[in-house]
Amino acid sequence: MTATGVGSPRADDLVLAVTGASGSVYAVRLLKVLIRSGRTVHLTMSPGAAQVIHEELGLEVDLAAFDPGPLGVRGPGRLVYHHHGDFSAGIASGSFRTSGMVIAPCSMSTLSSIAAGITTNLITRAADVHLKERRRLILVPRETPLSLIHLENMVRVTQAGAVVLPAMPGWYHRPHRLEDLVDFVVARICDQLGIVNALAPRWGDDHGPEPCDETRWDAAVDADETQPEAIEES
Ligand SMILES: Cc1cc2nc3c(=O)[nH]c(=O)nc-3n(C[C@H](O)[C@H](O)[C@H](O)COP(=O)(O)O)c2cc1C
Repeated sequence: MTATGVGSPRADDLVLAVTGASGSVYAVRLLKVLIRSGRTVHLTMSPGAAQVIHEELGLEVDLAAFDPGPLGVRGPGRLVYHHHGDFSAGIASGSFRTSGMVIAPCSMSTLSSIAAGITTNLITRAADVHLKERRRLILVPRETPLSLIHLENMVRVTQAGAVVLPAMPGWYHRPHRLEDLVDFVVARICDQLGIVNALAPRWGDDHGPEPCDETRWDAAVDADETQPEAIEES
């Protein structure tokens, strides 16, 4: 796995952009799953994403000298990092082959830029490229409540060909852990990308799938099965 550099693009390369909406845990988990599935992921992040990652996960991300170490990403896939201001990156051009792009989480600010065709950073430029090339673009917005402006922007990007996949986990699979809720959303994203996964039970499965090794949470997370203490009423 490489952390930086251009590399040689393949048609199944994916783009993952992270912006400053709440829910950075989805981005980190998705990145791990995609790399473990063997794909090459072109990663870019906004300054807002770095701020939210710090607030929510306590991780410091240096956008100018990116180090994937703290994210805990492991191969066999490849990680290629691009600075959000680098318009010379391959993913800024339609001639660079990819099989799709995900923006997770997607802020209302980035959503509005995409809806308006404004491309002032690599994230919105790459999204614009995916729309014009009629490639898969999946936006994972997180905001509540939604204004008419948010809703109209979602309609507009949907009409342009994007898939709006809100970070809205279901509860019908009876989640036990926060990780189950995260994986519910990440599984839906992977399904859209055609990434085979058993991250979350599927409705209609009798017993629910066993997560495969490649997609399991880190052992430290899995081992944390402690139950909260029962509080007795007096
Ligand atoms: C802790 C924190 C949480 C935020 N959560 C959201 C959110 O859920 N949705 C959203 O649209 N913006 C959220 N924001 C605001 C965005 O980060 C802000 O609008 C930023 O300019 C987005 O820029 P970007 O799209 O380039 O990342 C949050 C900001 C912070 C600091």
